[in-house]
Amino acid sequence: MTPQPPLGMLAELTHRCPLHCPYCSNPLDLVRREREMTTDQWRSALTQARELGVLQVHLSGGEPLARRDLPSLVSHAHGLGCYVNLVTSGLGLSEARMVDLARRGVEHVQLSVQAADEDRADIIAGARAAKHKKAAAAAIRAAGLPLTINVVLHRRNHDQLGALIDLAEEWGADRLELANTQFYGWAMRNRAALMPTRAQLDAAEPVVRAARQRLAGRVEVVYVLADYQDRHPKPCMHGWGARQLTVAPDGTVLPCPSAHVITGLRFDNVTERPLAEIWYESSSFNAYRGEDWMRDPCRTCDRRGVDLGGCRCQAFLLTGAAENTDPVCVLSPHHDVVEQAVVPVADVPFVMRR
Ligand code: SF4
Ligand code: FES
Repeated sequence: MTPQPPLGMLAELTHRCPLHCPYCSNPLDLVRREREMTTDQWRSALTQARELGVLQVHLSGGEPLARRDLPSLVSHAHGLGCYVNLVTSGLGLSEARMVDLARRGVEHVQLSVQAADEDRADIIAGARAAKHKKAAAAAIRAAGLPLTINVVLHRRNHDQLGALIDLAEEWGADRLELANTQFYGWAMRNRAALMPTRAQLDAAEPVVRAARQRLAGRVEVVYVLADYQDRHPKPCMHGWGARQLTVAPDGTVLPCPSAHVITGLRFDNVTERPLAEIWYESSSFNAYRGEDWMRDPCRTCDRRGVDLGGCRCQAFLLTGAAENTDPVCVLSPHHDVVEQAVVPVADVPFVMRR
């Protein structure tokens, strides 16, 4: 069956970032500045993405504001007819810069927040970042743009859930994403330190429910469940190579941001092969499309159309084979690795992203 064209592209413009969050989903082996694509190469990648069918472009990183050519890339993506979302830590986002980016075509901003108070937020970010964020949120609102605040939840900030909801309301967010950590990249490296306890997760649910009721019609509250503590896995990426592609800073094209962990796959580069060919014909994008790749128990399971066997990267990271059932699933023969991982260990220090 011919795949549908992609709807979205995550453009990781750079891995450079002023923050050092221990849950960063970027790879441990970060792409260095000298290997980043040039402005013309990014323009070409965006043009090809639009020709392929992409409608939403998420300009991300690292910190996309670290790229001096961000304004021209925004103009280019907007000129192609794409909806442009900026994913940022807010550091360096002055009011003038935000106005300029909005004028050029940014239509939505996702701002990360690490904790509800500055001291804790700075410890988690590994930088004195928190004091800039409120001003960044104000600049986004002043530019008339919708604001999503994104908080990655983990053991060291779960207790602040109520205060984080209050902060989002106070800062004028339209949407609040409370996302339990997904364990890839640096988050996988720090899994023991980040893993929330069962008690924290149980306490969170009524807080989120009450906030949804109280803020209905004003702030959309999205709660991303803790994957490891669920019975069945998430339908990761809505399927491999199904809706979205990721372009890494050096032009590597990935079916999902973490796919580089799957060592058996060879990933193409948009500077060497046309994007459409990569999407439709490459071995990496076709590796886990559809259901033919599935092994038991997924192969014969009634839920395979619902969760698509879970996450290929997680299956690889935890079992050594991406074709295996995601071990988050209680039916996986490897489920014990997840059961062991959720057992709390005494506090271990973060390894900050460097
Ligand atoms: Fe989903 Fe596979 Fe588990 Fe069935 S066995 S619930 S398809 S992950
Ligand atoms: Fe790669 Fe789930 S993160 S498929």
